[in-house]
Formats: sequence, structure tokens, C-alpha cells
Amino acid sequence: MADPILEIKDLTVEFALHGRKIRACDSVNLTIRRGEIIGIIGESGSGKTTLVSGILNLIQPPGKITSGQVIYHQRDGQTVDLRTLTPEEFAKHRWTNLTSVFQAAQNVMNPSLRVKEHFLETAWAHDPDMKEEAILAKARDLLSRVRLEERVLDCYPHQLSGGMKQRCIIALSLILSPDIIFLDEPTTALDVITQWYILEILKQIQKDYGLTMVFLTHDVSIIGSIVDRLVVMYAGEVVEYGPVLDLFKRPTHPYTAGLMTAIPSLRDDVTRRKAIPGNPPDLANLPDACRFAPRCWAKAQGICEGERAGTLRMYGSNPDQYTRCYSWEKVFRQ
Ligand SMILES: Nc1ncnc2c1ncn2[C@@H]1O[C@H](COP(=O)(O)OP(=O)(O)OP(=O)(O)O)[C@@H](O)[C@H]1O
Ligand SMILES: [Mg+2]
Repeated sequence: MADPILEIKDLTVEFALHGRKIRACDSVNLTIRRGEIIGIIGESGSGKTTLVSGILNLIQPPGKITSGQVIYHQRDGQTVDLRTLTPEEFAKHRWTNLTSVFQAAQNVMNPSLRVKEHFLETAWAHDPDMKEEAILAKARDLLSRVRLEERVLDCYPHQLSGGMKQRCIIALSLILSPDIIFLDEPTTALDVITQWYILEILKQIQKDYGLTMVFLTHDVSIIGSIVDRLVVMYAGEVVEYGPVLDLFKRPTHPYTAGLMTAIPSLRDDVTRRKAIPGNPPDLANLPDACRFAPRCWAKAQGICEGERAGTLRMYGSNPDQYTRCYSWEKVFRQ
């Protein structure tokens, strides 16, 4: 098993809304391994973006990180708890070690700057002594890896299609040779063919650079074929994680099982595809029960009592696979 690159320990992020506190990310424990591609999945509002914003120290008021550690194992073997760094110290890690491409990133390019200037400004913000030609040589190499022509450097963002802009942003995020990249719904705004194309490119880049990649998405069908492991989030908590094929074939949390049957497939009989009935709970008004209980068929059938106390920890269900469902053996009859 590969060495860890990030150990997230007990990370909690709270938002204060109308005098009430909600935990959008609730005591998350997760180890990301060096060189892996990992997918974090869960319905809208499950806390995926909040988790990654917490890791990257990007939580804005009314949000606040109220507990936790984020241990980064550096390339030189040293470890640092990113949570203990000042904003200035953290800034040194951003782009050079940890980088991110967020939802609808295409819109973050400055319309008055050419692509070339985006690369130069990003590099110089970290190292003003870098030579322009060295930066542009690297930019050309990265652009060719995302299958864009060199001439793109002289374009303004409006001259590029959505898919091209997204590939530019991915190339840009790699200009300072990061160690780990977080991609939050990197392809959601694009058509399906372009999504597949970009994912194939990312997979190749991951191989070439030995990067660690973390994908966040509510649509597991998009990333299922490229990730090594999946992490499933529900109502602010991690509810299951493990090797992607095992989670597809033998999920051990009813929510994961529901997500897997909701996946569309080309060969699929659409009448058999089922969305999970019901909605996630209101985070400001959580039941004193298993958070999934109101939607869980095992609870409905009396197989499980759905008690909160049993869901306060994870259980090893298969090799390298963990679930928060304390009744998983009964529910899945393994
Ligand atoms: N800026 C904010 N202000 C207040 N509450 C927030 C804020 N950002 C997130 N939240 C709360 O945190 C919860 C989790 O949001 P988050 O954006 O992390 O979910 P997500 O899993 O990334 O969803 P999506 O798939 O829609 O991107 C939300 O339901 C919301 O209650
Ligand atoms: Mg999100």
C-alpha cells in the first residue's frame, strides 16, 4: 500500500446560519495515498466542497474549521500539519504542493489577460525570479499534454470554447509541479464527450507525473472508470470508502448501494435504474438516529434499528473497505 500523502483527522467545519450551527463536514477521517486517484462522491450538499475547502484552508465566514488536523507528508519525507500554518505559510504550499480546480473554473480566467499572462502571473506570484522563457516552455509542454496548441497562449479566454478553457485551467494548475490536485466537478459544465476526453487526459497526466488526484463529484458514473478508490459522503460524514470496484460490486453501506443502482449505463435497462427515494436530512435539524435511516430500506424493513450511537465510528467490512453502517453484515448478508 502506498505511503500517505494527506492524513485528514477529525476535520470539522461548521457554518453559522440564522443563529444555528450546521456541521457541513463532521469529524472526517481520511487518508489519501501518494500517487492514487481518489473520488469523493455524494449528493449535492453532502459536504464534498466543504471538506476540500477545509483541507485547503479556503473556508470563508460564516464557515469555520472547529477541529481537526491535516497532515501533509511532503516529498522530502517531512510532515506538516497544514492546520497549524499561518495564511502566509499556507500560501507557499498552494500551487507548489497542493492545487485545486473548482467547479465552473472556466469562469475564473481574467477576460482581459491572454492565456500566456495567466501562466506568467501565476508562476511569478510564487517565484518572481523565474525566467519568462522557462515558464512559457513549461506552459507549452503542459498545453500539449492537455492537447491544446501552442497558439492558445496568445488567445484571450473568450476566444476559447468551454472545454478548451477547462483544459487551460488544468494546465495552469500544474505549472508549479504540484504534488496533489483537487478537482471539484471539473467537467460538470461540459458535454459528455468533452468530459470523457478531459478525464482521459487527466488520467494520462496523473501517470506521467505520479500526481495524486482527488475528484469530487455527485455523478459517480463519470469518474468510476478512472479512480482507484471511492469515498462516499452523506450529510457531512464519510459513510463508506474502499477500492472502486469493491464499492461497485459489494457496497456495505445502503447509501452506497443506492448510489450504485442509480448509475446510468449504456447497456442498462433504464426501468431498473432507481434514484434513492427521499432527500438528505436538514443539517440544522438532524434526527437523533443514523443520518441515513429515514431513507434506508434496511431500517424500513426492520433489519436495522438505525441508531445514531452505532454510526459514530467506521467498521472494516472487506479488505481496505470501511462502512459506517453497523448492521452491514445483516443488511448485505455476507
Ligand atoms: N458558504 C456557505 N454558507 C453557508 N452554508 C454553507 C456554505 N457552503 C456550504 N454550506 C453548507 O454546507 C453544506 C455542504 O455544502 P457543500 O458545498 O460542501 O456540498 P457539496 O457536497 O460540495 O455539494 P455539491 O455537489 O452541490 O457541490 C450545504 O448543504 C450547506 O448547508
Ligand atoms: Mg460542491
